[in-house]
Amino acid sequence: MQRLKNINDFQKFKNEKQPISMITCYDFAFARLAEQAGIDCLLVGDSLGNVVAGYGTTIPVTLDQMIYHAEIVRRGAPNTFLVCDLPFMSYHVSIEDTMRNCGRVMKETGSNALKLEGGRDFRNVVEALVKASIPVMGHLGLTPQSVHKLGGFTVQGRDEDKRRIMLEDAKMLEDAGAFSLVLEMVPEALAREISESLTIPTIGIGAGRYTDGQVLVINDLLGTDERYNPKYLKKYANLAKIVKDAITRYDAEVKEGKFPGEENTFK
Ligand code: KIV
Repeated sequence: MQRLKNINDFQKFKNEKQPISMITCYDFAFARLAEQAGIDCLLVGDSLGNVVAGYGTTIPVTLDQMIYHAEIVRRGAPNTFLVCDLPFMSYHVSIEDTMRNCGRVMKETGSNALKLEGGRDFRNVVEALVKASIPVMGHLGLTPQSVHKLGGFTVQGRDEDKRRIMLEDAKMLEDAGAFSLVLEMVPEALAREISESLTIPTIGIGAGRYTDGQVLVINDLLGTDERYNPKYLKKYANLAKIVKDAITRYDAEVKEGKFPGEENTFK
């Protein structure tokens, strides 16, 4: 199994049918571990608004928050391909404002690429970024920054109109210069059709088995929230239980005078 080293390997992996593994990451400790585990790509997702900050949506997330976390993740994983999400309203106002914001992210975080949500409405943004040598990962399907327009966090592209629009938008993003595309909460058949019709790789979350790669939110795959159990998610650990058990034992040992023991004290 080869390691993904740089942007050219996204295409190489797709051509050679080697699935691309991506997870989100927000801090130094997990970035270090993810790099040691050999993950292909880390995404500092604006999902940090949900899983780190506890907001109900990603809309409150700011550019400064994204830069803060991406810079931390880069320190923990200096040798892993790093993508930083562009938060809500950081690429919507004007091309000039977008370029200033994206320039900051690239300069201050050491990211290799930026991800943005949306289709045809953002063609000019993708083209401008690519022209400025900033690689862009697209994101279609459930685009959480548009939750109020979509009416909820639901599967996208089920009806014929939306299916056709998603197919067109995917092709448009490829034509505009995106190097890869996240498909979130899309019926498996549609994700497969998009993946087969594009040259660039697709990376799915809740998009079934036939995308060119997969992405999960790190907290979800580690099972930090026992309340969150969507159908698409597989939990590879139960950190909620492990963490609660450890803190409960620590709490009890402090209260019982068992911690610190002699072995934990300085002479
Ligand atoms: O913000 C995020 O974590 C994402 C992934 C779910 C793809 O966009």
